[in-house]
Amino acid sequence: MPLKNSYTPAAKTSRSAGENHSPIDGDASNLWAEFAQSFRNLVQPLPPPWGELFEPLQTGAVDDLVVIAQIGQSLDGRIATASGHSKYINGPAGLAHLHRLRSLVDAVVIGVGTALADDPLLTVRRVAGPHPARVVLDPNGRLPASAKVFTGDGVRRLLVTAEGTRCALSPEVEVLALPTADRHIAPPAILAALAARGLRRVLIEGGADTVSRFLTAGCLDRLHVMVAPIILGSGRASFILPPIERANQALRMPIRAHQLDDEVLFDCDLSAQRVPIGHAKTST
Ligand SMILES: NC(=O)c1ccc[n+]([C@@H]2O[C@H](COP(=O)([O-])OP(=O)(O)OC[C@H]3O[C@@H](n4cnc5c(N)ncnc54)[C@H](OP(=O)(O)O)[C@@H]3O)[C@@H](O)[C@H]2O)c1
Repeated sequence: MPLKNSYTPAAKTSRSAGENHSPIDGDASNLWAEFAQSFRNLVQPLPPPWGELFEPLQTGAVDDLVVIAQIGQSLDGRIATASGHSKYINGPAGLAHLHRLRSLVDAVVIGVGTALADDPLLTVRRVAGPHPARVVLDPNGRLPASAKVFTGDGVRRLLVTAEGTRCALSPEVEVLALPTADRHIAPPAILAALAARGLRRVLIEGGADTVSRFLTAGCLDRLHVMVAPIILGSGRASFILPPIERANQALRMPIRAHQLDDEVLFDCDLSAQRVPIGHAKTST
């Protein structure tokens, strides 16, 4: 299958510049700011080069919600080393794509494992665009109040936890206490609770455990897998799904591939297996 080369909005940068490159890519970023605006104005068709990739995120195919997960992985399907180090698997182009996704959604969701390992801020810095609400899934109240996701910077912050878990957080952090079964909170219940608070477009940003739970529950419309040209050889797998006996039982889906500098983005369409979840209180 030929790779599409149309999705190349960012200035060319070398991989070795990944950790230090300038946060915003000049002209490309200004174009992105305009695009993010038209994305929210549903009556306008989305302009190239981004329309094909981001149009599926505008309106839900199954219901009012749009749920996308993104994973950045090595060629051998790892998202982190065995010690949990993942900064950075992807280069500048892959990271800019992640920030573009953040700028288009209402909320970005991570599991407590990622919050503890990476202490991410989850803001939009590599492109121009609005910051999404930050959501952490922490059923056992393991994340300290000093975690960066809880920083009081004017952005909405939400903690999804298990009913009965005690949390000592700023009152500005919205706490959603949901029922559990074996400490697992059903992903449709998480999405319904977010939708009830007006958070309709949701990015599940990791880690593997969290993305896999949403995937297994049929709660993803889209999955973006960004493959970096590196081989870790060991470490944490991108997905942890129930075992299957035969290769032909594997989850298979329609995909489109895009090249971004030296990385390849697989845009996976999961709408065929997405379960209905519900409607947002107010769409943003
Ligand atoms: N390359 C990438 O794209 C990428 C992205 C993000 C993270 N990472 C890396 O991934 C690693 C962390 O990933 P991970 O898989 O170990 O952890 P994770 O997915 O970040 O967090 C998993 C934990 O979150 C809680 N959780 C998530 N979904 C839940 C649900 N539906 N119900 C109840 N609890 C839920 C559970 O907490 P409890 O354990 O308290 O039950 C679970 O153990 C780090 O090394 C990080 O650097 C890589």
